[in-house]
Amino acid sequence: MAKKPVTKKAHKGRPAERKRLIEAAKIAQKNSYSPYSRYPVGAAVLTESGRVYTGCNVENASFGLAICAERVAIFKAVSSGEKRIKALCVVAKSAAPCGACRQVIIEFADKDAEMIYVDWQPLEKKEKVTFTTAGKLLPHSFNPSEAGL
Ligand code: THU
Repeated sequence: MAKKPVTKKAHKGRPAERKRLIEAAKIAQKNSYSPYSRYPVGAAVLTESGRVYTGCNVENASFGLAICAERVAIFKAVSSGEKRIKALCVVAKSAAPCGACRQVIIEFADKDAEMIYVDWQPLEKKEKVTFTTAGKLLPHSFNPSEAGL
């Protein structure tokens, strides 16, 4: 069952948009390449154009080369010419973006962009959905536009 949004601004996302992102992230999670951690993650980003780009975590025998699902989704969007993220969804057991992903998110998302975490346990078909914003994820962030970069 969906948890109450934690901020008023998190209400902005329309239910259909949210559902679409959550479903896309769940499908992407199935492509996770995570034989080392056995921790599959899926992500989906909604861009300004209304398109959705998905990603999953991709690991490597050289462990430090693993890349998170969120960054795969964001880099797919940016490399397709889409530089603004309206919303992001991440799906995993106790999902929440890591610190590195938060910095990448704030590069391409406004502070009020919606962030959705889905604590998804497919075997039990249990999910807990949390809504927040990019600004809440990374307060006092190093922001390229504010820094004049
Ligand atoms: N991981 C993500 O994909 N996203 C996160 O925000 C946290 C961690 C991945 C990286 C690695 O493949 C696995 O989860 C365990 O850390």
